[in-house]
Amino acid sequence: MEKTNILLLGAGGREHALLKKLSESPRAGKLFVAPGNGGMLQLAQQASVNPDSPTDVATWAAEHDIDLVVVGPEAPLVAGVADAVRKQGIACFGPNADAAQMEGSKEFAKQVMARAGVPTAAYRSFVDREACEQYVRELAGPCVIKADGLAAGKGVIVAQDTAQALEGVAQCFEGAFGDAGKTVVVEEMLEGPECSLLALTDGTTVVPLATSQDHKRAYDGDQGPNTGGMGVYSPVPEHLVSADDLATMTSIMERVVAQLAKDGIVYSGCLYGGFMLTKDGPKVLEFNARFGDPETQVVLPRMHADLVDVFLACDDGTLGQKVIRWDDDWAVSVVLASAGYPGSYESGKRITGIEEASAMPGITVYHAGTKLDEAGVIRTAGGRVLAVTAVAPTFAEARAHAYEACDCITFEGKQFRTDIGARAL
Ligand code: AMP
Ligand code: GLY
Repeated sequence: MEKTNILLLGAGGREHALLKKLSESPRAGKLFVAPGNGGMLQLAQQASVNPDSPTDVATWAAEHDIDLVVVGPEAPLVAGVADAVRKQGIACFGPNADAAQMEGSKEFAKQVMARAGVPTAAYRSFVDREACEQYVRELAGPCVIKADGLAAGKGVIVAQDTAQALEGVAQCFEGAFGDAGKTVVVEEMLEGPECSLLALTDGTTVVPLATSQDHKRAYDGDQGPNTGGMGVYSPVPEHLVSADDLATMTSIMERVVAQLAKDGIVYSGCLYGGFMLTKDGPKVLEFNARFGDPETQVVLPRMHADLVDVFLACDDGTLGQKVIRWDDDWAVSVVLASAGYPGSYESGKRITGIEEASAMPGITVYHAGTKLDEAGVIRTAGGRVLAVTAVAPTFAEARAHAYEACDCITFEGKQFRTDIGARAL
């Protein structure tokens, strides 16, 4: 069998999960990561390339005989890394920059949704602070304030009243989210449980992956600021997402990909739909142009497929010929974060217990913000440090095992939610 040399871009728990699954493929050849993390560098070599630079990535890939570049995070996609790689004649997993606008610009995504007739929150966008404040005062009630660009999942303020909304508007315009806050979107507040649906697509065929539910707030009981995601489980049980809901969400994903195609944009890669299951049915909260983090850490372990094969098929338009099967097992993943996350936090703390936790049945510890120091010690190096995933035949077992494994792992300032999956029980 011809081997596929792979360069994977990114450094989070999502990328560790992608790398592990890719490495299990019989087709996997040499594996490189840029920049990777403490866990990924145990499975792959580090490539000295700037993952956000299209020229850098494409040139390095060509010089090193790479057959497939897999892009984990959104920033390289929005910057046009996939375009540059494909231009070199190298296969790439991840959408080109035009399609990645589904995540890169909320305004763009809203326009595509409107054309495709997809239900989503009503919204208005502003570049003028006074006009924005005026509108928020007119609404005189709950709304959601969003920085329009990429803000690592943190540029969203769910405001219960006008005072909170005005504070959110101020944060955006005063630069709390950098350039992302130059355009501010004010959205209708949707209510209901949330559900993520990831789908693979080659621009024509759309293959929905398993459902999952993330926990975005920092603290138990959905309190505190929004984060990149503190824990997740998969699949979402029927009492939260019905078969009808699932069919609607799948059809929404298909309509969006078809609309983009009609607009002359091929979306190839993973499309992430974030949904609110309102009393009027599922409505879109957002689209992302990549796998979710930590959703990937519960979806991939339950997936039976050769990931190299499937990713190449997304690139060359043959996804319709591939079969993906799913485990009946449940997966729960708990994120261990540094004290202070999503605000400022300290790094460099020694982590112990990963091996003990990994030896427990059904447990995989995915590294996110970790690094291996010169002495070979794993240390913290980010806000979200590890994602501890348990897979088991029942939801209750998966959840109990995940928390037992979390208890094995120690580092100074370890912070995690103790109620991941409580809603599903
Ligand atoms: P986003 O990055 O747009 O998914 O927003 C992050 C989180 O903010 C979502 O997962 C929701 O919990 C919340 N959120 C975003 N938009 C809305 C909305 N229109 N109504 C209620 N909650 C929202
Ligand atoms: N977990 C949310 C995201 O990946 O955007």
